[in-house]
Parts: sequence; structure tokens; C-alpha cells
Amino acid sequence: MATGIACGKIILIGEHAVVYHQPAIAIPFSAVQVRAHIKQTDDSIITLNSSIYSGDLAHAPALLDGLRTAFEKACFHLAIQPTNMAITIDSTIPFERGMGSSASVTAAAIRALAQFTQKPLDDKTLKAFVDISENIAHGSSSGIDASVITYETPLYYVKNQPLHPFHYSLDAYLVVADSGITGNTKDAVSRVKHLQETQSELHQQLIEQLGQLTKDTQQALLQQNAIAVGKIFSQAHHCLQQLTVSTPLLDTLVDTALQTGALGAKLTGGGLGGCMIALASSKQQAEQIANNLKQAGAVNTYIQHLL
Ligand code: PMV
Repeated sequence: MATGIACGKIILIGEHAVVYHQPAIAIPFSAVQVRAHIKQTDDSIITLNSSIYSGDLAHAPALLDGLRTAFEKACFHLAIQPTNMAITIDSTIPFERGMGSSASVTAAAIRALAQFTQKPLDDKTLKAFVDISENIAHGSSSGIDASVITYETPLYYVKNQPLHPFHYSLDAYLVVADSGITGNTKDAVSRVKHLQETQSELHQQLIEQLGQLTKDTQQALLQQNAIAVGKIFSQAHHCLQQLTVSTPLLDTLVDTALQTGALGAKLTGGGLGGCMIALASSKQQAEQIANNLKQAGAVNTYIQHLL
């Protein structure tokens, strides 16, 4: 049996603006991960076993089109027939919640395939396959999820530009709360596009503001200034609200985190559901925020030290 593993990701800041060539900062999120296992079978098909679908991969629902297409192309690249395999996906990444589940499932499955074929697969090639899957899953994707999940390093990311691994160290805690509502990145990206078509000045102003806030976050992280990072997160949430991608529950969770003393809070990822993040100055405060977020409606919380 061959195994491939991939982590989740969290966008700290810059989601949506990154689609319009502004920078974004994203980090690998190891509190959640996908493990894909591949074993040989006697069936002349690829069988998928996962929490959302089990059966012939060729007949999987449309939401798995990205995985199927990328996996078949990877089979071709690795010179193996796309038959006689069973893929099992074990994932702790909730689906469509802005933690990169679609990119992570594809990365883990193709890593397992490379091990199965005993052929090397470099990260650049793997990323190209994850990009194929993401472009199908999200319409037109900026490529940020594919990049962070393939390279497993924090990135200061600008679409279509060489990758810049971004090393920082902040003695603060990131609280991630899952609203339990399935987000829809494709819809959220189209909403922002609609705003561009109907209110182009407002759209441009918000996108540029988010780009500037990302640049400010980069500086604040390099200066290890958690208070500044927190303030910027809250400003970014206001921009994302105006881009119409927040929800009442995400807003409530952001308010709850701030009322519990968070340095700042915002939604993360595409929005319209999914997750929010809050910055806490100590582990104790992070745990308090996580508890209050659960009482306010979050179905799950995670804490990651940013040091
Ligand atoms: O919803 P997620 O976590 O996959 O994040 C999408 C990020 C967007 O900027 C909204 C879209 C993109 O392709 O960058």
C-alpha cells in the first residue's frame, strides 16, 4: 500500500484580492491533514473510498471532477494505466471550509500515486497537477492553496509570480473556528467579480486596500508586532464584508473573538461560510476565545502557535 500525506492551509490575509493580483499571505496548517492510500486491485477501474463518495472514480460527483482530472493526468505523466487501483482518503480537513481540502486531497492522492509507481515526482510537477484540480474546483483559482499545500511553507504570494517563502516568527496564537457552514469559493469569487462589474470603483478601492493591508501584515510579522497584525486582521474583515463574502455567523464569531480580547479577527478563505481566524496573545487567551467561539456557534476550533 502506498501513502501520501498533505496538510491544510490558512490564508492569513489577502483572500479575494489575490485573484486580482494583490499579494496574500498563507501558511500551512498542520492541525488538519489528508492521508491518501493506494492499493492495487483486480478491478479494471479506479475505486475511490472517501467520506463524500465511494465508488468508481469515473462516476464520481461533479465536486470531485478536479481530483479525477488531475489524478488521471498524473497517471499519464507517471506512465501508469488509470485502472486496478483503490484510493482511500482519510481526511481531518472539513470540506469547503477554507482550509484547502480540495487541494490537499489532490496533493495527497498524487503523492500516494508517485509512491505507488515508485517514480519520483518533484514539487513543481505536483503543483501543476494540484493547479489543474483547483481551477476545476474553484473556477479560476489564484493558485495560492496549491502552492502552500504543495510546498508546505508560509508564502507571501502574488498570482503568476515566482513563489516567495515567507519566514516569520510571532509569539502569538492563531485560533481557527469552523462555522460549520459549507462555504462556496466559486460563488464567493463570482460575487466579488459581480461587484467589479456593477460597482467598479468600490471594488477597486477594496481590493487595493486589502493589498495594502497584506503588505502591512508582512511588515508587522517581520517586526514581531502581534498587536499590529491583529488590528490589520479586523480591518481586512471589514473589507471582506463590503466585498459581500461574509455571513452573519462569521460576523458573530469575529465579534465574539474581539469581545473575548482577541488582538484581531477575520474570516479566512473564500467566505460565505467556512472558517474565521482570531489572533490571541497567549495560549490561555486562545483557549478562552476558542471556548467562547464554540458557544457562539462554531462547530470546531483549532489553535496554532505562530512561533
Ligand atoms: O476558500 P479557499 O480557502 O479555497 O480560498 C480561496 C481564496 C480565494 O482568494 C477566495 C480564491 C483564490 O483562488 O485565491
